[in-house]
Amino acid sequence: MDTVNLTIDNKTVVVKKGTTILEAASGVGVHVPTLCHMKLDDLNIENKPGGCRICVVEVEGRRNLAPACCTDVYEGMEVSTHSVRAINARRTVM
Ligand code: FES
Repeated sequence: MDTVNLTIDNKTVVVKKGTTILEAASGVGVHVPTLCHMKLDDLNIENKPGGCRICVVEVEGRRNLAPACCTDVYEGMEVSTHSVRAINARRTVM
């Protein structure tokens, strides 16, 4: 099984390749707000259009903020879920 090592809010995380930032954050107890993302496990439905941008997070080295619900993690990724920039962007989206 391929795994990916990354940090989310300075917490080291190891997840399967193909995991989104949102899923990885959830796995270590970091809450990222969502609006258009919907996952209904009972019905085996996951909707992640990436349209609302309420879930944006800051990724080191990336110019634009990343929508956590539809951005896959990669090796060495450094994510900040509650940076001032991300919070301000969410406020603007709202
Ligand atoms: S929750 Fe809407 S873009 Fe991620």
